[in-house]
Amino acid sequence: MPKKIIILASGGGSNAENIIRYFQHKAQVEVLGVWCNKRQAGVYARAKKLKTPCFYFDADDFSEILSFEKEHKPDLIVLAGFLRKIPIALLQAYPQKIINIHPALLPKYGGKGMYGMYVHRAVKQANEKESGITIHYVNEHYDEGAVIRQESVELFTEDEPQDIAKKVLALEHHLYPKVIEQLLFQHG
Ligand code: GAR
Repeated sequence: MPKKIIILASGGGSNAENIIRYFQHKAQVEVLGVWCNKRQAGVYARAKKLKTPCFYFDADDFSEILSFEKEHKPDLIVLAGFLRKIPIALLQAYPQKIINIHPALLPKYGGKGMYGMYVHRAVKQANEKESGITIHYVNEHYDEGAVIRQESVELFTEDEPQDIAKKVLALEHHLYPKVIEQLLFQHG
């Protein structure tokens, strides 16, 4: 039986696409689908191109996702640029099975409202010499769950927020699928 994952996204979906591509030709992992809470998000087209189902859902109502989980029992729920809180009911149904990627070295530059370019602008503003990524378990607080993996990138004074974003995103694409794979198989 392949391991099963689902992806939750809110935006452009480059991480979702990258994860789908990574597992596309690996029989031991199946991406069941992508759920998105924004109607205009780029992730629909990316998933469609890769023949992966992508569904809209209202992030004030996770009941559809909860019943999907009950029926299909994914091994991991992967947040990839998903910007809403996960309700307690889902956290309780999936303890230690919901993970997120954050585009900074938590606990710095995390919390409500800290996402995407807001993070990279704040990093630039603070003249940081490094930034990076944090992959962590999701709990009831934004960006506060146990850290699974962090990796940093060096920053230079001439790096603008867009440059920081590029460096960080490249690291996300490189590491997130590999960490997902490790988690899936370390849990047996
Ligand atoms: C990624 O950089 C991800 O780390 C970030 O949103 C971006 C989504 O890009 N997530 C957060 O900021 C969560 N707080 P994508 O839609 O191209 O994958």
